[in-house]
Amino acid sequence: MADILGEMRRTHSCCELGKDDIGKEVVLMGWVQRRRDHGGVIFVDLRDRDGLTQVVFNPDVEKDVHAKAHAIRSEYVLAVRGKVEHRPEGMVNPKRFTGEIEILVTELKILNFANTPPFLIEDAIDVSETIRLKYRHLDLRRPSQQKNIILRHKAAAFIREYLNENRFLEIETPVLTRSTPEGARDYLVPSRVNPGQFYALPQSPQIFKQLLMISGFDRYYQIVRCFRDEDLRADRQPEFTQIDMEMSFIGEEDVMRIAEKMMINLFKEVLDITLKPNFPRFSYDEAVGRYGLDKPDTRFDLELKDISDIVKDSDFKVFSNVVKKGGIVKVLNAKGCIDFSRKEIDDLADFVTVYRAKGLAWIKVKPDEWQSPITKFFSDKEKKAMVDRIGMEPGDLILFVADQPKVVNEALGHLRNHLGKKLGLVDANAFNFVWVTRFPLLEYDENEKRYQAMHHPFTSPIEEDYGKLADDPLTVKSRAYDLVLNGSEIGGGSIRIHQRDLQEKVFEALGMEKETYEEKFGFLLDALDSGAPPHGGIAFGFDRLVMLLCEQQSIRDVIAFPKTQKAACLLTQAPSETSKKQLEELSLKLRIL
Ligand code: AMO
Ligand code: AMP
Repeated sequence: MADILGEMRRTHSCCELGKDDIGKEVVLMGWVQRRRDHGGVIFVDLRDRDGLTQVVFNPDVEKDVHAKAHAIRSEYVLAVRGKVEHRPEGMVNPKRFTGEIEILVTELKILNFANTPPFLIEDAIDVSETIRLKYRHLDLRRPSQQKNIILRHKAAAFIREYLNENRFLEIETPVLTRSTPEGARDYLVPSRVNPGQFYALPQSPQIFKQLLMISGFDRYYQIVRCFRDEDLRADRQPEFTQIDMEMSFIGEEDVMRIAEKMMINLFKEVLDITLKPNFPRFSYDEAVGRYGLDKPDTRFDLELKDISDIVKDSDFKVFSNVVKKGGIVKVLNAKGCIDFSRKEIDDLADFVTVYRAKGLAWIKVKPDEWQSPITKFFSDKEKKAMVDRIGMEPGDLILFVADQPKVVNEALGHLRNHLGKKLGLVDANAFNFVWVTRFPLLEYDENEKRYQAMHHPFTSPIEEDYGKLADDPLTVKSRAYDLVLNGSEIGGGSIRIHQRDLQEKVFEALGMEKETYEEKFGFLLDALDSGAPPHGGIAFGFDRLVMLLCEQQSIRDVIAFPKTQKAACLLTQAPSETSKKQLEELSLKLRIL
């Protein structure tokens, strides 16, 4: 059968040829980045994933080929045969790898034409993300996007190699499964052969990897897709990829050591950056105390200070009443920000209301007085204590939030990150990894009025706290750890419960009835009873990690076909309605509430 390529086969990519190749006959294939007609001679920049090469059609060399080249337009697909030549004097482009040479074409095949693309295939374009995602196949042709996807591949390949060398086995786990509790809503898939029954897509392979430890596989990993129906943000997708790991006969230190080594090697391999071993560690309490969040961005200082003890009896009732009701008052010292306008301060106050703060009190520290609506309420003693605690100096702007601890820490923690960026305090070239450990086992969910696992229900409490599970569950600490990079949680894991008794106690602390946990997790409890080794592991958010490696702001830029904030794929128009026939096959009738 006739083949459009005929005898032509690529000899080189579009970013391979240089001075040393001059005189060679080569065949290149790729897309037309640009065509220029210079008084008879036609120049084309031919592009493939590696880069660009200039190819030249000269009427004095091959008249017919040159005539054919008139038809060429942007994004046409070409095959060219020709000779590598030195570019004429003054035409050398030192910025391009192939900038010293060009190909004088002797044979041209137009492999395909292309409609005019909706945007230019280059990096600096001013096009909405909606258009880019609708034409994602074209968006992905842009060099920056290709670079991201290629780097993602390199990172995945390196991680596989690293884990294989460390005796980890890659084992696949089911995608059609039961609910796996990681705190989000499930994506459900109706079963045709079991009418009225549903599979859940896994929020993570958590239970399966524990079962694999019980089966004796010892070290498991998987680069695996997880599905979570939750509110989407720049660093969250409904389907995302984890580097999921689990190990037997280990403790926290072992998992953290191997994970840290993997990161250090990965950064060396992919970015040629040498990270210092022994990433700093924070207990959860210390992280939240100093930075407001359990994912501290340590690239800048601007730490929070607690002044509850100083203002507990103050005449400013907003503060003293909060402290009397078990709340706290914390501050940020925005050094040198005394010149913030009223509008700027109001904007900061609006910013913290998103985190449910009821206000943002402030003081501008002038050389001889404090300018603020609240100064008059404080005694000299209180003022002096504040100066010492907060390190107040003329020129500073002090920002206060008073509320329950969760609100104060979240509001000021996010405000800290916001100010860090606004004031240019963040070192954009730094990669600051930190471990956060000793998380509380449970937290109280105000909306649902019940306890829930801070990590997941299979995380082990620390041994000293077993006794408090029943009566004082909120004070129980867990054997969980998170890895944080530049303020982004890129991984989390824990040492698991490997004994039935303890697992039942934790289910009970979570408010589950025996019947419920037997029904939902009976298979796991039985497995724990069948010789479960001590085990633990971690999972990294691969998209987030690659986003940071690529210095991108959104994980959508490192996923080939991402979804929008509304969990839609603009390219394929998923999700979509289904036919009556398909619903009938599933024994389902649609009634939208
Ligand atoms: P966790 O729920 O912390 O742990 O998830 C691990 C990491 O996955 C990333 N991540 C996400 N990335 C993109 N979009 C999302 N919607 C999303 N949700 C989470 C984060 C997070 O740190 N089974 C446990 C791991 C374990 O205990 O071993 C788990 O899934 O970077
Ligand atoms: P008010 O007495 O409500 O006028 O508040 C005086 C100042 O205190 C204003 O700047 C408010 O933004 C601020 N404020 C009110 N409630 C709080 C709070 N819970 N925490 C911090 N500041 C607050």
